[in-house]
Amino acid sequence: MFKGIRRAVMWFEHRLVLRETFWPIVRHPVPRSLRRKVGWMYVFGSTAMTLLMLQIVTGIALSMVYVPSAGEAFESLEYLNYQVPLGWMLRAIHNWAATLMIVMVVIHMAQVFLAGAYKYPRELTWMLGVILFFCTVGMAFTGQVLRWDADSYWGLGVGAAMIGRIPYIGPALVDLMMGSPILGGETLSRFFALHVYIIPGILFATLGLHLYLVVRKGISEPPEEGNEVDPATYDEEYEALIADGAGDPFFPGPMARDAFFIGLTLLLVLGLAIFCGPDGPGLPPDPANVAAEPVPDWYFLSLFSVLALSPRSLETYIILIGPLVVVAVMLMFPLWASRGERHPYRRPVAVLSVIFIFLGVGVLTWLGYKEPWSPHMNAWTADAVPVNIVKRLSPTEMQGAVVLQLKACRNCHALDGVGGERGPDLTHVGSRLDRPALVRQVIQGGGNMPAYGKQLTGPQVTALVDFLSALRPPERPPSEVPAPSISDLAE
Ligand code: HEC
Repeated sequence: MFKGIRRAVMWFEHRLVLRETFWPIVRHPVPRSLRRKVGWMYVFGSTAMTLLMLQIVTGIALSMVYVPSAGEAFESLEYLNYQVPLGWMLRAIHNWAATLMIVMVVIHMAQVFLAGAYKYPRELTWMLGVILFFCTVGMAFTGQVLRWDADSYWGLGVGAAMIGRIPYIGPALVDLMMGSPILGGETLSRFFALHVYIIPGILFATLGLHLYLVVRKGISEPPEEGNEVDPATYDEEYEALIADGAGDPFFPGPMARDAFFIGLTLLLVLGLAIFCGPDGPGLPPDPANVAAEPVPDWYFLSLFSVLALSPRSLETYIILIGPLVVVAVMLMFPLWASRGERHPYRRPVAVLSVIFIFLGVGVLTWLGYKEPWSPHMNAWTADAVPVNIVKRLSPTEMQGAVVLQLKACRNCHALDGVGGERGPDLTHVGSRLDRPALVRQVIQGGGNMPAYGKQLTGPQVTALVDFLSALRPPERPPSEVPAPSISDLAE
């Protein structure tokens, strides 16, 4: 019996040559000092990779039920949550593994950076890692859109509005991203393709190269103070570190450590999935309903804050140039920092920049939750139009007040100081803008305000504008800001 199995295994081995191919890789030598020193610092990369494998398995399973169509996506997720046995668990695991994957990738990067492991001869490994980082973020973003509930729908809308402001190419980019001028079925199909085919394709190709380099160039030895990297001598020194007897095979020692940490992480994923459950879907998508939380998932909140906090005049430049600078610096710095000291104690600037980045992102994320420019989500249920305003309204204007209430405009706009602060206080808007300007603002939106043209009937718009232009101190006449020209309105 045992012999039979062995014979079968040998039959395959003879033809596949797996053992001969992979055994040397599994047993490739790593510097021995890993064992005593900071060996535990080396577990994050392989943990991120394992989480990726988990995402593939759970993602494929999810795709068997999920329908990437604007009309059915939301229902198919509800169906998974409530009808399919353990469907909620699948969604929860996919969600929490994604979250932890981002965490692991970030820790892995910070560790590699702090240990100077991106220096010669591993600059390219770092660059591929940066691409992997952006692929991971891209997966998170597209995945959040696939949820297609009010949150993700809204986050995408805000994102599109921002991209649309890039001069010249903005509108074309939005069109490319959304597949249509509004968020709709084509948008979802595009994000599905990105999430399931395009980004994973790039990710796997990059990961393959990244791993190849990790194995070929070897894991960096833990940094030592005063031991500088010099490309002229480094290779020889490293050879000596892993030479026969000096190095340790990757399997079993270091690999066992990885496996242990991976096991812990998987348990954490399971625990979070069971106790915190899946994420959403929240409210059904409806662009006119801002009662949903129009904020992106936590890992994008800091970005959202940067844009919300930056002065409007600078926003366009920040959108345009900021990402280019960040990506270029992340990719390229190993080229000019490829030699020299690796130990963090000798690289105060590196340590400070990590602290600065983590603090900065942390504070911005916190602000994203707290600040007034995050819309107040309960304004429309909690606060009625102030009585002293209602008292002086005509019947059509009253209708307009009702529309304002129903469309949750006050999540972003205050009346008499009560309500959201994302947009201007509307208490006296009637003395600032005339009717055509009001109509245009409501129908076309603009400047971070959604366009309501498609969600309002003609009479509703009329009533709303009647109401808005009545919003002024009783003694003041309506605004006479000149109406925009006909051609302005036509566009
Ligand atoms: C997501 C938040 C948000 C929602 C919801 C929203 N707005 Fe706005 N609104 C804004 C922002 C931001 C501005 C400023 C636009 C600018 O600076 O160009 C604005 C500007 C305006 C203005 C021009 C005010 C001025 O003084 O220039 C009017 C009028 C207005 N909104 C009416 C409405 C109405 C009516 C609704 C509901 C149908 C609504 N808004 C819903 C964010 C919002």
